[in-house]
Amino acid sequence: MTELSFIPEPYLKKLDKGSVAWRSPSNIALVKYWGKYGEQLPKNASISFTLSNCYTKTTLWFEKRTTEVSEYEIELYLDGKREESFEPKILKFFERIKRYLPFLHDYRFRIKTSNSFPHSSGIASSASGMSAIALCLLKMEREMQPGMTEEYFNEKASFLARLGSGSACRSIEGPLVVWGEHPEIEGSSNLFGIKFPYAVHENFRNYQDTILLVDKGEKQVSSTLGHDLMHDHPFAKQRFEQAKDNLSRLLPVLKDGDLSIFIEIVESEALSLHAMMLTSTPYFILMKPNTLEIINRIWNYRKEKTSKVCFTLDAGANVHVLYPEIEKEAILDFIKKELVHFCKNGEFIEDHTGLGSIEL
Ligand code: PMV
Repeated sequence: MTELSFIPEPYLKKLDKGSVAWRSPSNIALVKYWGKYGEQLPKNASISFTLSNCYTKTTLWFEKRTTEVSEYEIELYLDGKREESFEPKILKFFERIKRYLPFLHDYRFRIKTSNSFPHSSGIASSASGMSAIALCLLKMEREMQPGMTEEYFNEKASFLARLGSGSACRSIEGPLVVWGEHPEIEGSSNLFGIKFPYAVHENFRNYQDTILLVDKGEKQVSSTLGHDLMHDHPFAKQRFEQAKDNLSRLLPVLKDGDLSIFIEIVESEALSLHAMMLTSTPYFILMKPNTLEIINRIWNYRKEKTSKVCFTLDAGANVHVLYPEIEKEAILDFIKKELVHFCKNGEFIEDHTGLGSIEL
């Protein structure tokens, strides 16, 4: 499959005006994507848990324009308030995807969006936000092109979301999504994310992710800059190989449910991601003292209680605490007693794996 598969045939139906709405979740990578080439194509394959409680809800109103205007017409509202500062990002997204959705110039759009998690929580809204917009736009296309299969819809939604923000392509379906070609994963592609195509052990059913909000500020390193740092990175080649191997190692773990190896892979991936930032030029430390405190306490708890709790990190200081559902009560108790003091204003978000986006 190539990009060309996503250029549509002439539309069969006309659409004057209306609205569409989608809810799309965030996701957390187990094997990380860090480094890209071409148009948002990943240097290595990644795999993520789709989340459930952290999502963006987006409604898109559209109305056909009567005159030919070369500029796009977009208004963006966040929590009911016009956010002009976000509009350039959407315009750039439209520019990137216009080849695949040729109707974008024909309409004026009003986009209303809101996140279930606090705006400045340090949780990236780009995955949920970009996937929600991609889904709304593709739904418009589906109305003009009836008969589009569910499979094509999901692939194209993921393909478009990827052009908005790489990791957004892993938010369409769930609970496990692979993005990037991997020789041992059938159907995997650099162009879009696919639902993990093999059976998964019941240990991973409804896997828990409690997100500890350690630092809620603006991202210190934007994703764009971060990915660029991998271009001349002294360890880039080794990192891409490591990610590929880690994904290979994860496959039997997902099948057999061996949580000890799962922990080893997932924590190593998180630390390797941060190691890339520690060793790039310029270099960054994205963890905070409290991030390390939390990690050490998770390790101590695991040793003392023979628990299968572990952590992962995004490109920031917040800690995602991952654990199987059967440990839910005990781990929440541990978090409340021992970890919550290390969170900004004691804030954390209880989440777990989910099935992906839904139309509203
Ligand atoms: O989707 P982006 O360009 O914001 O990159 C996200 C990269 C990480 O969140 C750090 C890792 C990942 O695979 O999600």
